[in-house]
Parts: sequence; structure tokens; C-alpha cells
Amino acid sequence: MSDTNLRVLLSEEQIQTRIRELGEKISQDYPAGHLHLICILKGAVFFMTDLARALKRDVLVDFMGISTYGKGKTSSGEVRVTKDLDISLEGADVLIVEDIVDSGVTLNYLMHVLEQRKPRSIRIAALLDKPERRLRPVHVSYVGFEIPDEFVVGYGLDYAEKYRNLRDICVLGEPAVTA
Ligand code: PRP
Repeated sequence: MSDTNLRVLLSEEQIQTRIRELGEKISQDYPAGHLHLICILKGAVFFMTDLARALKRDVLVDFMGISTYGKGKTSSGEVRVTKDLDISLEGADVLIVEDIVDSGVTLNYLMHVLEQRKPRSIRIAALLDKPERRLRPVHVSYVGFEIPDEFVVGYGLDYAEKYRNLRDICVLGEPAVTA
């Protein structure tokens, strides 16, 4: 794509190298058996498919849809489940897979909801973390990259649903003003 408002922050190579490292680490940390991956739609789909293939473990994959209102603007963002899981979490080692943690509102809510479903363990893997933006506490066990507070797109992340299929993660700038 030739969009002059895009500046590469993390290249495809950097992303894939880091995901392989995360895959190694996660595989070492868990006991033998299935790891239950929960992908938070939609942005995390890209990360989830690459991470799943970097794991030296059998995995189950399931998907959850979340909608938030007022996210990132206030600490009282409302969260709603728009698509629930298909598979029970009881007794499972669960790994929530997210593309980005921003205010923390989504994951803070989700941890409370999913802990009630009696998994054996539950952790979070997020490719990107913007710690400066945090409004709610979230413990992320596996972070790909900490990034500054800039608007990023690509590798699943969108602006108005565009740019998700970029291979790199890019900062989206203001359109240039032309006379
Ligand atoms: C993004 C991201 C997380 C959430 C993080 O999803 O995928 O789910 O925002 O933000 P928070 O930490 O402030 O809660 P988004 O709502 O953009 O949906 P999408 O993945 O479908 O694009």
C-alpha cells in the first residue's frame, strides 16, 4: 500500500521475530496439555494465528466479541459482550490474545468475566502495550512491544476498519495539507 501518511513503527520482520520469541516462552511456561487461546475480535485475529503456530503446544482456539463505549476517554467505559465463546473454560489453561492494551478497560472487564468460568489458569498475551494510556489495572503476562501513545494501524489494527491487512505496524499521521 502506498499511503504517505503511514510511518513504519514495527516491521513485519520485527513482529514475526518477537512472536517466535513469545511462542518459545509461552511453550516453556505451560505444562503439557492443551492451551486454550481466546482471540478478542477483530484486531487480534492476525496475532492469534501467528502466535498459535509459534506455540509448541496443542491449542484450542475460540473467539470473543467485545464492544466498548466511552473507551479511552473516561474510566467508566462500558463493555458489552457481542459474541460469546463456544467452548467451556472450566479447568482450562486459558490465554487471552489481544492485539493492543490501551486504557485497559476491555481486558480489566474481560478478566473479571472469564475468571468466573473456573479456568485452571488465565493469562493475557498482548502484542502491543501502551502503558501511558492505562486507566484500569491489567496484568499482561506476555507483551510483544511497549509502544508510545501514537495512533497505530496494521497487522490487525484499524482506522475506521481500514489498514488491518498491512504487514507492518505503522503510525498513522495527519493528512498533508496541500495548497
Ligand atoms: C481494541 C483492541 C482491544 C481494545 C483495547 O479493539 O483490540 O480489544 O481496543 O483498548 P482498551 O485497552 O482501551 O480497552 P477495538 O475496540 O478497536 O476493536 P477491533 O479489535 O475490532 O478493532
